Amino acid sequence: MENKRFPEGFLWGGATAANQVEGGFYEGNKGMNIADVLPGGKERLKILLSPGFDFKIDRERYSYPNHEAIDFYHRYKDDIALFAEMGFKVYRMSIAWTRIFPNGDELAPNEDGLAFYDRVFDELHKHGIEPVVTISHYEMPVNLVTEYGGWRNRQVVTFFERYVQAIFIRYKGKVKYWMTFNEINSGLHFPIMGLGFAIHKEEDKYQSTFQAYHHQFVASSIAVKRCHEIIPDAKIGCMILYAPVYPYDCNPENVMYALKKNQLHNYYCADVQVRGEYPAFIKRYFKEHNIELEIQDGDLELIKQGTVDYIGFSYYMSVTEKKEKTEEEAAQGNILSGVKNRFLKASDWGWEIDPIGLRITLNELYDRYQVPLFVVENGLGAYDNVEEDGTINDDYRIEYMRDHIMAMREAVEDGVELMGYTCWGCIDLVSMSTGEFSKRYGLIYVDKDDDGSGTLERRKKKSFFWYKDVIASNGEQL
Ligand code: BG6
Repeated sequence: MENKRFPEGFLWGGATAANQVEGGFYEGNKGMNIADVLPGGKERLKILLSPGFDFKIDRERYSYPNHEAIDFYHRYKDDIALFAEMGFKVYRMSIAWTRIFPNGDELAPNEDGLAFYDRVFDELHKHGIEPVVTISHYEMPVNLVTEYGGWRNRQVVTFFERYVQAIFIRYKGKVKYWMTFNEINSGLHFPIMGLGFAIHKEEDKYQSTFQAYHHQFVASSIAVKRCHEIIPDAKIGCMILYAPVYPYDCNPENVMYALKKNQLHNYYCADVQVRGEYPAFIKRYFKEHNIELEIQDGDLELIKQGTVDYIGFSYYMSVTEKKEKTEEEAAQGNILSGVKNRFLKASDWGWEIDPIGLRITLNELYDRYQVPLFVVENGLGAYDNVEEDGTINDDYRIEYMRDHIMAMREAVEDGVELMGYTCWGCIDLVSMSTGEFSKRYGLIYVDKDDDGSGTLERRKKKSFFWYKDVIASNGEQL
């Protein structure tokens, strides 16, 4: 493995999202977003998706871990100093839409919210760290969900345009790397987070979902165009959840089934955002599911003009698919579906660990799109133990990251143009899917428990020191 390094200027860093770290729920005139009404605990998505859920806070029945999260809102200076100590070149974060437009439909932005991110960006620059900003990371204003029906409603495109315009103008001297929608394709798995509505009727799964996607594609293209106009030296990417789909075996039926899943779940959104047009396979899918998109004059041209500069993606696992599966087989699949892959081990939360899958992903994405790639999320959610002497010896996390970084290094040797790597949850945060603090990804431990107790004290894990050496050696010392 000697002499395999990453390109000069490789963007090493870590990633978080506003709603999972900031807290400051009541501060700076922030409005309420979807993450704010998410209760803590493994049932959170089930509760949110249940018919009749009213997107209101019910403190008698539930707790709301995102309201305080890890209090980055007040502690960002200390946290950024720790990122700098690890040698971060970049920090991927998101702007909470509701800090800038509390209800989403105001005409003018909220100065307190704008000023908060000014302070964060300034602090990052003080330490020589470039921000990589996700514009929308599962943080849609609740008002746009309850009053407008989420992204189903074309008006939301206008509100989004106002939002991006405000942040590009304000931060044009401070932010060079942007991404539009976090894991845009995840709406096919859990629509409420990305698309802003729950699906209770079969027809919504098709017509409403893909209409909402059309609106997001238009909105994304507008963002790309505005970004290039306002900040000519900026790079703006899409962000997709990528989990390669393997066929269960070489039965052509299963191979074709896996190919279809790959097209719909991994490629559909990226094809539109990177190539600038709807792919042929989705047109057939639309026909077969009676989907008729309302496309306004100029939309398709806009999508063509507003293609992204790079692909940011999250990678945690692969999926193995079989066309005919028993209920028992389906129950043993990964969180995203499929069946068990007998060659892989899984995390404590059942996410199958597959570093070679990352090399496959990088090759497949690069072969298909020929644009720079950026791994903007990858990491291991695990239980950590604080030893009596205060240390946290997370060798399992080091092993996970090492194997994935080695896979990236191989992909670079394969010829893939890779911009950087930001590990997910570089500091412990609230889990998106379960609302737990105990599902920890961080290289920095935060003293906070699932019941909300804890001092919020930060502590360096063993992985902190390991990652620092990785960055200092540009990925040579693993
Ligand atoms: C990604 C999201 O899907 O996975 C993050 O972009 C999320 O917001 C991460 O936290 C890990 O998922 P979880 O459910 O373990 O927090």
